[in-house]
Amino acid sequence: MTTAVETLRLRDGALELIDQRLLPQRLEYVACRNASETAHAIRDMVVRGAPAIGCAAAYGIALEALALASDPKRFASSLEIAFENLRISRPTAVNLFWALDRMRRVWTTHSKDETDAVARALMHEAKAIHSEDLEVNYAIGRHGAALVADHARIMTHCNAGALATAGHGTALGVIRSARDAGKKISVIANETRPYLQGARLTAWEMMQERIPVTLVTDNMAGHLISRGQVDIIVVGADRIAATGDTANKIGTYTLAVLAARHGLPFYVAAPLSTIDLHTTNGAGIPIEERDASEVTGFRDVRWAPDGVHVVNPAFDVTPAELIAGLITEKGVVHRPDAKQIRALFST
Ligand code: MRU
Repeated sequence: MTTAVETLRLRDGALELIDQRLLPQRLEYVACRNASETAHAIRDMVVRGAPAIGCAAAYGIALEALALASDPKRFASSLEIAFENLRISRPTAVNLFWALDRMRRVWTTHSKDETDAVARALMHEAKAIHSEDLEVNYAIGRHGAALVADHARIMTHCNAGALATAGHGTALGVIRSARDAGKKISVIANETRPYLQGARLTAWEMMQERIPVTLVTDNMAGHLISRGQVDIIVVGADRIAATGDTANKIGTYTLAVLAARHGLPFYVAAPLSTIDLHTTNGAGIPIEERDASEVTGFRDVRWAPDGVHVVNPAFDVTPAELIAGLITEKGVVHRPDAKQIRALFST
């Protein structure tokens, strides 16, 4: 399987990441050669989006292990530091912890092997996490496309596209697959304050693919929905609790409430790697608080007075009862609840 936008790639022994801080003005890659460079890239939003963060972290561990393989004495202790460095890079997207757990299991399985064999096994696992995510997104796209009517006007929030995954995307994967199925769809991209993933990334991705896209500011959503200009809302997720309560980019909850008020279908597209059965409900999901400078301005431009008090929660939680369906690689869970979500893992 291939992807038009190569968010992550391995080149010359390094992990190369599209520098998403620069889009849409510049398409450039940043090279990460070890875990600490990868952790920095995650923290600094070079790479973002739950599945892409997981893939990057897995490569960060693998590259660190390969670099340490010639030094068996330091191997275990330095690899532990690498795991910790990546673990604390961002708190909400559970794919990060899911990927690190997978890498740790491989390390445990190979703990009696020579360090270079361990490192090779870890790189093999990182590549598997990467390629599986691409396949999973195509499956999500296929299941989701069936929910999208011909000529649907689809509202989405943030960027749950190829840039947020190994490729194709979750919410934008549904949109791409609907288009590929011959449906004449159009997209309404919310700009997604404060970090503008919708304006910068989703608008760019859709325009690259010539999928009709209209950019709106977040506070226009209610107006457009109330005027009947939106048919369906599809968003991604950073962490889905056992009950189906879903954390996604700040502003998602507002859209779900609007959808309920106006009888619009509100769907969450996400892989099983985003479901956290250990978190009982939405109240237990850690919400990242980001720097005030993201709210007081953007890049070098400041618009708020110096010293103003700011809060900047990067995510909010949508209760399961507001979600019409969870679009996963295993199919669509309509009106998700704890029982149906558990069942996804038993088949
Ligand atoms: O802060 P970000 O840009 O990492 O937030 C990303 C989102 O909220 C996405 O919707 C989510 O990770 C799903 S990506 C397929």
